[in-house]
Amino acid sequence: MNGIGKSERRPRVRGSGPADAGLAEEASRLIESVAEEFDIARREHSFLRGKITAAQAALALLDEELVGFGYWSAWDAGRFVSHSGLVVRPDLRGIGLGGELKRCLFASSRERLPAASVMSLTTSPQVRAMNLSLGFRVVSLDALPDDPEFWKGCDACRNVERVRSEGRRCCCEAMLLDPPAGKGGA
Ligand SMILES: CC(C)(COP(=O)(O)OP(=O)(O)OC[C@H]1O[C@@H](n2cnc3c(N)ncnc32)[C@H](O)[C@@H]1OP(=O)(O)O)[C@@H](O)C(=O)NCCC(=O)NCCS
Repeated sequence: MNGIGKSERRPRVRGSGPADAGLAEEASRLIESVAEEFDIARREHSFLRGKITAAQAALALLDEELVGFGYWSAWDAGRFVSHSGLVVRPDLRGIGLGGELKRCLFASSRERLPAASVMSLTTSPQVRAMNLSLGFRVVSLDALPDDPEFWKGCDACRNVERVRSEGRRCCCEAMLLDPPAGKGGA
């Protein structure tokens, strides 16, 4: 795993589709590889395969290798969309790939669900910066949907036991981006 040199090609970021189903295990491993160090929830490859084939994932590829990933989900009958699992291989961070992945997820979820509010739960300063530049605002966790399935997503985070023992739902800061005026939403 070498860092990207000036002469090397930049990884290409694009939305996923059914032909990318074979990347699900790599995506799961990529998340797993950082899940002890960062507040990101592990995800089974079967779950990620569903996101990839449903065109609800963004991929960063260096040749055939998956070096960055993220996915989105719809909640509350499509009134909310969450962006999750954002990860870039450590040696390729800081060159804008995370931002590209985030914008790809944003474009895909906005196109499919234009009236949805977009949510992000994060402790990452990089994700916070990206969200702020996209227009997200910080909200209380209570502003997010109550759906237990949504909060079950935190079960695979390294902090879950401590956070739940403190009576809290999540260790992250919640951020929300409302849909454009006239589109309704939350
Ligand atoms: C979060 C992550 C995907 C970002 O990927 P990246 O390719 O390094 O991100 P980028 O280079 O696109 O930088 C993203 C933003 O962070 C900003 N940034 C970089 N370092 C920063 C720092 N230390 N503090 C605050 N902002 C910072 C950049 O300026 C950029 O802001 P902009 O979008 O307004 O220009 C990557 O750090 C990662 O894989 N982290 C581990 C997993 C994780 O924590 N995921 C988030 C789960 S919510």
